[in-house]
Amino acid sequence: MKAIVQDAYGEADVLRFEDIDRPTPGQGELLVEVRAAGVDAGVWHLMAGLPLIGRPAMGWHKPRMRVRGLELAGRVAAVGAGVTRFKEGDEIFGTGWGAFAEYVTVREDRAARKPANLTFEQAAAVPVSACTALQALRKKENAGRVLVIGAGGGIGTYAVQLAKAGGAHVTGVCSTAKADLVEKLGAEVIDYTKEEITGTYDLILDIAGNRRLRTLREHLTSDGTLVFVGGENGGRWLGGLQRNLGGLLLSLFVKQNLRGLLATEPATDLERLRELIEAGTITPVLDRTFPLAEAADAVRYQHAGRVRGKVVVVVSPQVGL
Ligand SMILES: NC(=O)c1ccc[n+]([C@@H]2O[C@H](COP(=O)([O-])OP(=O)(O)OC[C@H]3O[C@@H](n4cnc5c(N)ncnc54)[C@H](OP(=O)(O)O)[C@@H]3O)[C@@H](O)[C@H]2O)c1
Repeated sequence: MKAIVQDAYGEADVLRFEDIDRPTPGQGELLVEVRAAGVDAGVWHLMAGLPLIGRPAMGWHKPRMRVRGLELAGRVAAVGAGVTRFKEGDEIFGTGWGAFAEYVTVREDRAARKPANLTFEQAAAVPVSACTALQALRKKENAGRVLVIGAGGGIGTYAVQLAKAGGAHVTGVCSTAKADLVEKLGAEVIDYTKEEITGTYDLILDIAGNRRLRTLREHLTSDGTLVFVGGENGGRWLGGLQRNLGGLLLSLFVKQNLRGLLATEPATDLERLRELIEAGTITPVLDRTFPLAEAADAVRYQHAGRVRGKVVVVVSPQVGL
């Protein structure tokens, strides 16, 4: 089967379009014929091997897993022993390591039925980014005033919609190029290229920009919650982890809740997202797609930061939708 593989860390030119063996589903796994795979920021991190603190898990000198890609939508081609929720032919979305390929194995508990009203391309843009947004907002969906920093990107576009659906007053921080999109999703906009953040918020989702902890806390109510979700300029070694740890420590002494997030994509959250999507409460925002053979360009495009919402790699063109 065709797949996007790498044998060394580096920029996107380490990615190669190659023929490799088709994987076999193990106990509790599905073999999925991939139709489309999302390009989340994590793809770049695994490709580059950064931040270095992640190397024990990623592989010290070269990637432990050769095939890139994680979030996907496709059709079940076969099921492994013990699988109860799916059968051959089912259309699913979820996560599986090595999704930039014609076939990938997906754990049954990392998959859900594809939302009926989405194309495979749209559904592939959901699992990682929307689960992250959902978990960042967990127990706080109905917070009064929510600030989403990085509102026009993969996670931000879901976070704005989910917070809005929970009845919050949402303010989104983004650049001029994404202001119209963020406004259309229902948020008031702060264009950070023209103005500073103003106001006080019950919940701040810090998805981008790596602003100083002190600055963020100034905009948080005295008992508000700040969730460190991400940020791409946090340094080669720790990738911004020191700020999360600083927040966590400080949280022990102040009323504000300052916490990091390590999101996962469990089937329960995917099912919840499917319900919200089918009800029309949230909709994936797709910037553009790339064919599988051009996945390296898709990763470059995502990493350049100009994407409005999400980028998706199309693995096999869908018929009939
Ligand atoms: N905690 C977790 O479990 C978890 C899970 C997934 C991803 N992440 C991390 O979360 C981060 C975001 O991921 P993503 O997929 O949403 O990436 P993305 O699609 O690239 O979105 C990031 C957004 O931030 C905006 N931005 C850049 N600099 C900014 C600044 N100074 N102020 C405000 N906004 C700024 C960018 O556009 P504009 O500048 O044009 O507005 C972009 O839209 C990444 O670092 C990723 O690694 C964390």
